[in-house]
Amino acid sequence: MNLKCHLKRLHLQSPQASALAHFYESAFGMACHESQGVWFCKHEGREVLLSQGQAGKLHYALFAIDNVAEWAAFTDHTQDLPKANLKAYPELPNSALGFMDPDQNCMVFVLTSDLGQPKSKHNLDTKAVALPPAESQHFALRTQQVKNMMRFYTDDLGFVLSDVVQDESGQLKACFVRGDEMHHTLALFGAPVSCFDHQSFETPNWQELKDWADHMGKLRVEIVWGVGRHGPGNDVFFMVRDPDGNLAEISSEIEICTGNRPVGEWKHEERTLNLWGKAIMRS
Ligand SMILES: [Fe+2]
Repeated sequence: MNLKCHLKRLHLQSPQASALAHFYESAFGMACHESQGVWFCKHEGREVLLSQGQAGKLHYALFAIDNVAEWAAFTDHTQDLPKANLKAYPELPNSALGFMDPDQNCMVFVLTSDLGQPKSKHNLDTKAVALPPAESQHFALRTQQVKNMMRFYTDDLGFVLSDVVQDESGQLKACFVRGDEMHHTLALFGAPVSCFDHQSFETPNWQELKDWADHMGKLRVEIVWGVGRHGPGNDVFFMVRDPDGNLAEISSEIEICTGNRPVGEWKHEERTLNLWGKAIMRS
């Protein structure tokens, strides 16, 4: 079974959730409000939830499955997998299914129609800045067991493997898996620690990426990596850091994968992560 899903939201832990909310409000043009200890930061197509916890850790990632038949295929495929207890997250519909990956990151899946209609705009929407579109598209995790993680996401959950990165000895260093036609919904990087790495918002084209960069410049939010072009995915990008140090990316031109695209193989080198120059190497 090939899973058909797209990233809907990340719920991040933070020891300073309100500071992160204010960052995502200004830097990524989201409207944020707090309810029962959870900061809800949203704009059309992009969504981040923040609540108390450890920096650099997810509460969960939420993926939406649009089609009823695909939801049925997914529930059938995963029927024997242990389910995560989602009671701590009242914002999720009762039909949501959660699974813990080998690093104990919680991955939640929901049928899109069970998410309901977006709530009407609330009073803090006036703070949302007019910016080019950018949608929650992918995120990345660092892991000390990249092979186990790849197996879990592809075999157990049904994501499709797009590309792998291997060292000279053939050891897996990173991989990219997708839930729709965009090159990766999730990237897994072998690293000395297991933690959240980054999330990415996809903007339609290069001009709009430039407008986002100008917006960050006006706010004095430093671009810490990029502008560059990733090898796997071929997307142009830049990254900033939120107050917890989490990387947040604006990306564009990501590869659209069609048909029986073969799995791509890349060398473990800086050029793979940035065809234009320097990279943030995770191992
Ligand atoms: Fe990315």
